Amino acid sequence: ETAPMIDPFGRHVSYLRVSVTDRCDFRCVYCMAEDMTFLPKREVLSLEELDRLCTAFIDKGVRKLRLTGGEPLVRKNIMSLVRNLSRHIESGKLDELTVTTNGSQLARYAKELYDCGVRRVNVSLDTIDADRFKAITRWGDLGKVMDGIRAATEAGLRVKINMVALKGVNEHEIIPMLRWCHEHGYDLTLIETMPLGEIDGDRTDQYLPLSLVRARIGEEFTLEDIPYKTGGPARYVEVKETGGKLGFITPMTHNFCESCNRVRVTCTGMLYMCLGQDDSADLRAPLRASEGNELLYEAIDEAIGRKPKGHDFIIDRRTKQPAVTRHMSVTGG
Ligand code: GTP
Ligand code: 5AD
Ligand code: SF4
Repeated sequence: ETAPMIDPFGRHVSYLRVSVTDRCDFRCVYCMAEDMTFLPKREVLSLEELDRLCTAFIDKGVRKLRLTGGEPLVRKNIMSLVRNLSRHIESGKLDELTVTTNGSQLARYAKELYDCGVRRVNVSLDTIDADRFKAITRWGDLGKVMDGIRAATEAGLRVKINMVALKGVNEHEIIPMLRWCHEHGYDLTLIETMPLGEIDGDRTDQYLPLSLVRARIGEEFTLEDIPYKTGGPARYVEVKETGGKLGFITPMTHNFCESCNRVRVTCTGMLYMCLGQDDSADLRAPLRASEGNELLYEAIDEAIGRKPKGHDFIIDRRTKQPAVTRHMSVTGG
């Protein structure tokens, strides 16, 4: 028996994001450097250990579980973890089991995901132009991702597209993307680029405030605020002309931290209490120390007691270095 997770600001932690691998088959320019060094495989928790860790969090009140990466679907045997976790959907302990993926392996896994109780997937897609896609991902094949998205829909999965709005890179595609998504029945969420980890190039050049984007979209479409809630940080509007949903994730221009309900664990068992802070807690040691979960619960409680009020996304104007040195791919957003 263990207690639910409530942080010092009274926020209830009910959403766990689990990065099952730091590896990815793409190298998006805003996310990673081309010559990324990945964690040695021996550092990484086994799928059995990840299942135990997730289950411990579910026992502590997590109702929504999202697998991320890197790219979660490149982890060897990943479906055995998803299948095991699906027992918590069946038992009603978990409301949602889902993934955030780049879509490259979706064609292969969509049906199986649905079979395991997954009903919704978020696909990261910043452009629908094949050349630009190659430029952003460094070598990704847009056709494969499109096949994956189609397979997901056919399997009965609801698809939400995540698009990071990048100044001078894909900003002119935002409206075409909106049309394309809603024509196909996908929701679209726009994301402000956050300064995490060193990349090749200058972040300040890419940052595009979504307040500006929203105003631009508003010139062509009627946007109505809606109370749609997924448990994530996006705020949604309905686009009257298309009938589809459009979300905005605005960590830089609007702080949604007051209602934060989530923490993330990495594939090595590090718990990060906030995406925008470097503070973490090692859960691998207590996980491996004994077969019972007492030490693990203790470590989790101690860490939740340190959950910060909010993020610290700033780019040092002088050095142009991000305040948070870890890459997005470590915690999977
Ligand atoms: P839904 O369940 O559809 O609401 O998904 P989600 O937004 O919770 O998850 P997703 O993996 O699609 O994340 C989309 C983006 O939101 C990613 O770029 C994340 O980095 C960002 N994001 C998610 N949670 C947080 C958070 O707590 N803080 C900040 N700053 N960004 C977050
Ligand atoms: N800022 C904002 N979003 C990012 N993502 C990756 N790196 C960044 C960043 N620096 C997005 C991916 C994916 C989600 C999990 O995080 O595109 O949609
Ligand atoms: Fe929560 Fe930190 Fe994200 Fe704010 S930045 S919503 S506190 S994880």
